[in-house]
Amino acid sequence: MKVDLTVNGTNITADVEDRMLLVHFLRDVADLTATNVGCDTTSCGACTVLLDGESVKSCTVLAAQASGHEVITLTNSMHRVNPFGAKVTAFPFHFDEPNKLRDSLRGVDTLVNTYWVRFDHPLFTHGQAVAIGMTYAAELSAQLNGFKQAERVVNLISRYGLPTYASFDQKKVFAVLKMDKKRERKDIHYILLEKIGKGAVQSVPLAQLEKNIQAL
Ligand code: FES
Repeated sequence: MKVDLTVNGTNITADVEDRMLLVHFLRDVADLTATNVGCDTTSCGACTVLLDGESVKSCTVLAAQASGHEVITLTNSMHRVNPFGAKVTAFPFHFDEPNKLRDSLRGVDTLVNTYWVRFDHPLFTHGQAVAIGMTYAAELSAQLNGFKQAERVVNLISRYGLPTYASFDQKKVFAVLKMDKKRERKDIHYILLEKIGKGAVQSVPLAQLEKNIQAL
């Protein structure tokens, strides 16, 4: 069937199968491959795009349902030639410039780190970043929640040959964390570990978090 979408401001018309999902239309037809498929349970949010300004999971929408509407998504493949050339606006990642990154993602309610999959970070891969993140999540849980298994988590990650601790600038990290979407006024809502396999949402005052980051 014929589908007619506006993607990042450019009209794209294509004949597709009736059952084609919007996420596959964006990836395979529009070549905007930062729209990822991260699960088969519609739960991860890796496929999130804006549809007429509303945040939706594009794996839950048929391309046909989006026909006649406007979609905004992230960047194209960095490793292939985009069939639409520069016609389709791609919103770059700007991981080094958090304010610009936030502007690119404004309005997107669900953001998961799978966007990193397409990002060629010069220092580490997505998997390594997740391993380091898990290490510090365990350490913060120990500080804030009395989590007692941080060492076990770190040992387990190391056993797979992944990195755990990394040197970082505490001030810069806190400056970025302050802008996190989990922030609500002077608090930030984190999922902290109570034990391995069990987490709980906890509100942490920013002033407290700053001290915890300093202590990492
Ligand atoms: S791919 Fe996981 S929610 Fe869409």
